[in-house]
Amino acid sequence: MFVNKKTDDLDLNNIPAHIAFIMDGNGRWAKKRKMPRTYGHHEGTKTIRTLALEANRLGVKAMTVYAFSTENFKREASEVEYIFKLPKEFFDLYLKELVENNVQIRYIGHLELAPQETRNIITDAVARTSQNTGLILTFAFIYGGRDEIVQTTKKICEKYKNGEIELDDITEDYFEQQLMTGDLPPVDLMIRSSGEYRLSNFLLWQLTYAEFVFDDTLWPDFDEAELHRCIRIYQGRERRFGGVLK
Ligand code: IPE
Ligand code: IPE
Ligand code: MG
Repeated sequence: MFVNKKTDDLDLNNIPAHIAFIMDGNGRWAKKRKMPRTYGHHEGTKTIRTLALEANRLGVKAMTVYAFSTENFKREASEVEYIFKLPKEFFDLYLKELVENNVQIRYIGHLELAPQETRNIITDAVARTSQNTGLILTFAFIYGGRDEIVQTTKKICEKYKNGEIELDDITEDYFEQQLMTGDLPPVDLMIRSSGEYRLSNFLLWQLTYAEFVFDDTLWPDFDEAELHRCIRIYQGRERRFGGVLK
């Protein structure tokens, strides 16, 4: 398939610093091909690699991908088990290349709820890339936006209880820094694939002023050209942050 790698029409001075993806449509992609849903998840991991390399090339600082929600445990055990095997498949195939491209891997979410092998694979990728200074690729894995806010609140209460902070230290900025995404730049652009128009409990605090682009492409078909298209839409938006543009 022809891939538009041209970026002449993108304003390289206005690339979103942080792009968050709700990677959706793997199951429907597989169903269309009369294949099991798991095949769609397998194919979807290739899209993460493609987009991470391209985002890195464009100078995006952070890319956060929603890989498994706290609600996804409602799915069949066999599908959940398959998804938990994907980090191994992904890092076995692509970690070397991501390291060569200076990509840093992180995760947010309840990794402790994943099988030991999955945890080891992810923590190993995080450790091996922690000094890298290129794109920060964060996997939201067993992640829920509401849960993150509750966990952060508990963490802050603990610090207050221990006398580490005063009540008045708890400001919006402070709260934001304590989130799992604490040191990442604000999310500029949120992209959801597959034509669904909802957040499904993703980055609820962080998306406050993000630009939203909903794309009909099913995740395994999402490629560089789609990414460019979404960034072009972003670049055409007027961001006001509550103010009035002169
Ligand atoms: C997204 O694809 C991947 C995960 C939620 C893990 P889906 O599995 O939700 O695919 P659809 O929405 O059923 O097509
Ligand atoms: C959101 O997709 C979660 C991930 C992409 C990991 P879902 O497919 O689970 O969301 P709903 O169920 O359509 O809201
Ligand atoms: Mg879905």
